[in-house]
Amino acid sequence: METQVDEIAAGIFRLSTFTDAVAGGFTFNQFLVTGDDALLFHTGPRMMFPLVSAAVAKVLPVERLRYVSFGHWEADESGALNDWLQAAPHAEVAAGTLGTLISGTDQAIRPPRPPLADGEVLDLGGPRLRWVDTPHVPHGWDAGVLFEETTATLLCGDLFTHVGAVPALTENDVVGPAGAAEDMFGATCLTPMTAPTIRRLAGLAPATLGIMHGSSFAGDGAAALEALAGDYDRRFQASLATGGGDR
Ligand SMILES: [Fe+2]
Ligand SMILES: [Fe+2]
Repeated sequence: METQVDEIAAGIFRLSTFTDAVAGGFTFNQFLVTGDDALLFHTGPRMMFPLVSAAVAKVLPVERLRYVSFGHWEADESGALNDWLQAAPHAEVAAGTLGTLISGTDQAIRPPRPPLADGEVLDLGGPRLRWVDTPHVPHGWDAGVLFEETTATLLCGDLFTHVGAVPALTENDVVGPAGAAEDMFGATCLTPMTAPTIRRLAGLAPATLGIMHGSSFAGDGAAALEALAGDYDRRFQASLATGGGDR
């Protein structure tokens, strides 16, 4: 196993580890955002820390990391958090309000930075990352995403998850493959708020989507998010019609 490094937008690097142990082929991706300060979005699971930290070191010294962030608390999003905090002595957890107050203050070996409010911008000295709360979307009460304003890159976590040994960046459809993975995993909470929450992200008009599992996407991010929201509308209505018995 090796972690591949690709710059998917100016100063934003996708660190990707492929394994054939999940669904016949699956990627775990982290995103390194570099400015005067550097932020890592998703820690990767603990067992991947040696691979992912070696990948970060190809871009900058690991001890230069200033923030470690992720969309929700879960092994692949936050599992290696304390390994990163040990390797980067000035790094702080940067998460949303619920994630910080419920889990961050208990799970991290150092106190997190003050919680990022919905819409708050974290200035890295160049990149500007806006935190957006997305509770329960795609899963996790504490869920949120980061939008890098200067490159219009949405780090959208588990949204658009798709399987396979895929290229770092694609302009092809990512909504169909995401639907196929949803059929396989059922990873998303289906609620009346699922589609509206995704539709709200379309308002950011991203030019690049940093997807945690699968290829990143370059193109009309708003249209992709609208189409994804439409797919979840359909799934939610279908679940109501069947009393929740069939996703
Ligand atoms: Fe997740
Ligand atoms: Fe994930």
